[in-house]
Amino acid sequence: MHSHKRIVLVTGANKGIGLETARQLAQAGHTVLLGARDHHKGAAAAAKLKAEGLHVEAITIDVDDAASVARAVAHVSEHHGKLDSLINNAGVLLEPLGAATLNTSLDVWRKTFETNLFSLVAVTLAFLPLIRKSDAGRIVNLASILASLTLHSDPTSFIYNFKTAAYDTSKTAVNAFTVHLAHELKDTPIKVNSAHPGWVKTDLGGDGAPMELEDGAKTSVALATLPDDGPTGAFLHLGAPLPW
Ligand SMILES: NC(=O)c1ccc[n+]([C@@H]2O[C@H](COP(=O)([O-])OP(=O)(O)OC[C@H]3O[C@@H](n4cnc5c(N)ncnc54)[C@H](OP(=O)(O)O)[C@@H]3O)[C@@H](O)[C@H]2O)c1
Repeated sequence: MHSHKRIVLVTGANKGIGLETARQLAQAGHTVLLGARDHHKGAAAAAKLKAEGLHVEAITIDVDDAASVARAVAHVSEHHGKLDSLINNAGVLLEPLGAATLNTSLDVWRKTFETNLFSLVAVTLAFLPLIRKSDAGRIVNLASILASLTLHSDPTSFIYNFKTAAYDTSKTAVNAFTVHLAHELKDTPIKVNSAHPGWVKTDLGGDGAPMELEDGAKTSVALATLPDDGPTGAFLHLGAPLPW
């Protein structure tokens, strides 16, 4: 188990699951870089954790903006020289819940894939040289149970009638990226996994979600601090595999 202090970057950490993930990792003594696309929101979130006696470093990173990502990479390189864990948490759900697949505009499809897939790939590739400098690199991709084609095509599954086409499909693609990147890096110490956090009470998950933030961050925290004999190329929720 890598109990030593890790340098961890969480994207989209100014609120929701990302902020709670940053909180729990800081509580465990890791050096947390709290990513936010809006500098002020990032500073406010970091101040909130500071008021709880925790220390995190706010870092501005808009995952959709290549220049912003490059500045974040340069900052981490200059100040830390490596990155132990990258948590690709930033994500968007642009469709109303219950949206009909055929009513989803191409604009929504494109914007959803831009942030949830292409930017996730871009951020990962940009930070990979720094992650390779870690002796136990971990990459955590926030997918969703809504990524599961097995469950979506099973009429007895509880997500069967819960379809947000662009979001779900972007997360299925995230899972495919996890599998491909894990294969590419299989002969390195780096582990790449997809997380389903749970259906969590956040702006994205909505008030009807059953899971509290504290539990919703646990899967990301566990995958960011996996021991050397932990899985890679897996799709997990609270330690248990989910069907692809
Ligand atoms: N909540 C759930 O039930 C649930 C279930 C399955 C998976 N997930 C996944 O878990 C992750 C976190 O979700 P959440 O529920 O915590 O959502 P949330 O409360 O809406 O937070 C999303 C975060 O992503 C950030 N973000 C969006 N676009 C960004 C960009 N271009 N660059 C940087 N940051 C960006 C947001 O920043 P702003 O504040 O600036 O908008 C915010 O900090 C997402 O990937 C989501 O798909 C959530």
